Amino acid sequence: MADTHTSGSGQRWSNRWLFVLAAAGSAVGLGNIWKFPYIAGENGGGAFVLIYLVCIAAVGIPIMVSEVLMGRQGRSSPIHTMRKLAKQSGRSSRWSILGWMGVLAGFLILSYYAVIAGWAVNYILASGSGTFTGASAEAVGQSFNEFLASPIELIAYQTGFLALTIWIVGRGVTKGLEAAIRWFMPLLFVLLIALLVYAFNSGGFDQGLAFMFDMKWEAVTPESWLIAMGQAFFTLSLGMGTMMAYGAYVPDDAHLGSTVVTIALIDTFIAIAAGLAIFPIVFANGLEVAQGPGLTFVTLPLAFGQMPLGSLFGALFFLLLSFAAITSAISLTEPALSFLVEEYNAKRQRVAVSLGIICWVLGLGTVFSFNLWSDVTFVGGLTFFDTVDYFSQNILLPLGGMLITFFAIWLLPRDLVDKQLGIEKAWVSVLWRLLAGVIAPLCVLAVFVSTIWPLLAGLLM
Ligand code: PHE
Repeated sequence: MADTHTSGSGQRWSNRWLFVLAAAGSAVGLGNIWKFPYIAGENGGGAFVLIYLVCIAAVGIPIMVSEVLMGRQGRSSPIHTMRKLAKQSGRSSRWSILGWMGVLAGFLILSYYAVIAGWAVNYILASGSGTFTGASAEAVGQSFNEFLASPIELIAYQTGFLALTIWIVGRGVTKGLEAAIRWFMPLLFVLLIALLVYAFNSGGFDQGLAFMFDMKWEAVTPESWLIAMGQAFFTLSLGMGTMMAYGAYVPDDAHLGSTVVTIALIDTFIAIAAGLAIFPIVFANGLEVAQGPGLTFVTLPLAFGQMPLGSLFGALFFLLLSFAAITSAISLTEPALSFLVEEYNAKRQRVAVSLGIICWVLGLGTVFSFNLWSDVTFVGGLTFFDTVDYFSQNILLPLGGMLITFFAIWLLPRDLVDKQLGIEKAWVSVLWRLLAGVIAPLCVLAVFVSTIWPLLAGLLM
């Protein structure tokens, strides 16, 4: 491999704060807004929030620090960074497989992410035009089912969302990624605050607060720990090289430890705030909390439909969800995009369009999972969409994350890591290695084995 190809694009975030915003944009996504609130409520409320915080601190932060430091050291796409770092530390170039796994995970996740984000875009328009105002539970449920039953409509929104994502990433780090982030992230914060104020005045705030924060230790099961860990992982965009790719653009003088902690705090704050914006509205209307798509696309529109100014705030909620999704979507393309640009010295725009087409085609499988192929199932009775989701989130990401920290701690030269992290004291270095090199990978291993075990057992039966 010619080294000229592996020297990276030389692009940088304009400053440390833009990296913080970009990484937070990647982290804050569909995972925070519909998944976190529900699983927190169901797994012990405040008790789960505490467990989740432990997972973020003990696993999420060390893995993110490892990814970003490797990215900044390699200053290239994850695949080239892995090749370079393996060479620098006298290891096999096969470690670049980690980069390839990330590229694959990025394709898979983006393929369905664009479809689901398309639903959110559709619901901005549906809510805003008053479709759900005063509608019955049956009517709202039926309108969601009809939407899912129409491949043409799903494809139209998927295409629109993907086209916008590709247009943004094709423009490059400064003109594309940064420009989008400068707009979308502040708007996301403003929308969230507006929705929080609305929820506060909805009449269900105390109930919402209790659902999320009462310490219900009796609802915590061993599985809750695994759910918390998996969530910490997915929500921080770890294990697929996104943070490594973004890390390649981090200025030399940024302090990595404090930067990563800030990103994790923003992500956690937004997940909790999303719960506090959603549940009061559901409870104020005497509705039951439903899971996943049901909560977001049926229960919430129904609840908003019963409230004063509901169509406006409903539309704002789906706008929030769409902004959160697009800043995550653009980060999903970066590992593959940066690799192809470096490897073939190709134009970013052209590569972006090709990637978009591949993701679009793959995404058709997800679209059809809700209609034409709803009866087609794979291993474990999962649909195409569930299979892609399961394989990327439960297998590729944990495996990637575990190997990345293992590499960062045990294979990279120690002085190089200490220098990247600005560690001067020997005991800090030992503590860091213990946390990131032993505790974090072991915890991920536990999650990994317990999630794939049922699948393996099913295959062997
Ligand atoms: N963190 C994003 C979310 O919570 C998802 C994501 C995973 C984005 C991996 C990039 C990489 O929705």
